[in-house]
Amino acid sequence: MSAVTERVGTHSHIKGLGVRNGEVLPVGDGLVGQVEARKAAWLVVQLIKAGKMAGRAILLVGPPGTGKTAIAVAIARELGAETPFMALSGSEIYSAELKKTEVLMQAMRKSIGVRIRERRWVYEGVLEKMDVRYDRHPLNPYTQVPVGGTITLKTDRETRTLRVDSNIIYQILSKGISEGDVIWIDEETGRVSRAGRAKGYGDYDVRPRDLVEIPTGPIYKEKEFVYTLTLHDLDEMESKSESILSIFFGAPSAKEIPPDVRARVDKTVKEWVETKRAELIPGVLFIDDAHMLDIEAYSFLSRAMESELSPIIILATNRGFTKIRGTDVEAPHGMPLDLLDRLLIIRTRPYTPDEIREIVKIRAHEEGVELEPEALEELVKLGSEKSLRYATQLLAPARLLAMQRSRSRVTKEDVAEVSQLFISTKESSSYLRELEEKLLK
Ligand SMILES: Nc1ncnc2c1ncn2[C@@H]1O[C@H](COP(=O)(O)OP(=O)(O)OP(=O)(O)O)[C@@H](O)[C@H]1O
Ligand SMILES: [Mg+2]
Repeated sequence: MSAVTERVGTHSHIKGLGVRNGEVLPVGDGLVGQVEARKAAWLVVQLIKAGKMAGRAILLVGPPGTGKTAIAVAIARELGAETPFMALSGSEIYSAELKKTEVLMQAMRKSIGVRIRERRWVYEGVLEKMDVRYDRHPLNPYTQVPVGGTITLKTDRETRTLRVDSNIIYQILSKGISEGDVIWIDEETGRVSRAGRAKGYGDYDVRPRDLVEIPTGPIYKEKEFVYTLTLHDLDEMESKSESILSIFFGAPSAKEIPPDVRARVDKTVKEWVETKRAELIPGVLFIDDAHMLDIEAYSFLSRAMESELSPIIILATNRGFTKIRGTDVEAPHGMPLDLLDRLLIIRTRPYTPDEIREIVKIRAHEEGVELEPEALEELVKLGSEKSLRYATQLLAPARLLAMQRSRSRVTKEDVAEVSQLFISTKESSSYLRELEEKLLK
């Protein structure tokens, strides 16, 4: 998903929707203006949190550079780190290795979290002391290997010395666990985990980053573990456990996940949910440049929205009335009508020069670019005439020019020069059109 990571970089200034007590701030959480769209997005966030978005999807429409992707990113920030958010561009479904529907299916399943709760019997405490017994290596008499030993664990209430086998000693040594660390040992599997450094153990000038409290209560106890995976993570785990068999049966080593694997995962997850061992966290699947999807992808999405395990889907496009890809049918936004029927549509509008000024200032600050007042005005002009995206993209090269000229601030001349060197999409396409016309004569 490299394209998406890159795109997210240009939205790094966005921390949320900038709404307080239901009121949209003119400038807030890195967002400027676009008040209606932000209010609508905020309502959508409330609906998602209340679990009232099932079977529906959202479409962001507006001209290029009016903040559609920015608002989708803000929705993700509002939903919090726990809620899975998966972004993909419509063009990314055309991959060489995977079928279009498989790309979409994987993206959908990456957008659904499963919070798993597991109770396990463990030995937990501060590792007070460890004695390792060594013996000769069975194959190499010159080396010694740990063959077992004793460890002393301590809580606020209890101290116990346990005899343990080489496997546990080996894990302690190889994980770099030392005396004074809080650890727990899973009774069933013998797996050793380190929680961090116990508070009050050792004097440090520089405080260790991973300080944890000394465990309380008994050493041998039932402990609850909570972790969040996505359905796709579970699919991968389930299909990996199968890979050894595949060697014998000669299955191709494609990254595609067979439907029966998914069926098994769904069945297991449903059982977990019913027995309260797990909870589903439907997240968000954001598909940018949705007009790049084709009819097959749209019908897959429409069907998927109906299923019980579906994330919230947010589409974005800057296309008006156009052909649905893969057909000769023209439709609003190039999308089939049955899908359009289920969309809540949010519109983004072109920015005023004042709004462009605010956004350029925020981006310049984010990228550490200092602008002379006239340079800022030049960028505002370019942003209004060409596009906001174009103006913000010129920040980095303009700063480079200024630096080469031993200036810390970008001047109007720097901006003018980079805008000569790098042309906007409008200019580059009309340039090619002119050339074509000349060639045809
Ligand atoms: N209201 C806003 N407040 C702050 N920054 C914004 C706002 N709108 C857009 N931006 C920033 O301006 C740049 C362009 O906006 P964005 O990429 O979101 O536009 P878009 O509508 O998705 O365009 P396209 O149709 O080309 O995909 C991004 O860096 C974005 O973060
Ligand atoms: Mg976009």
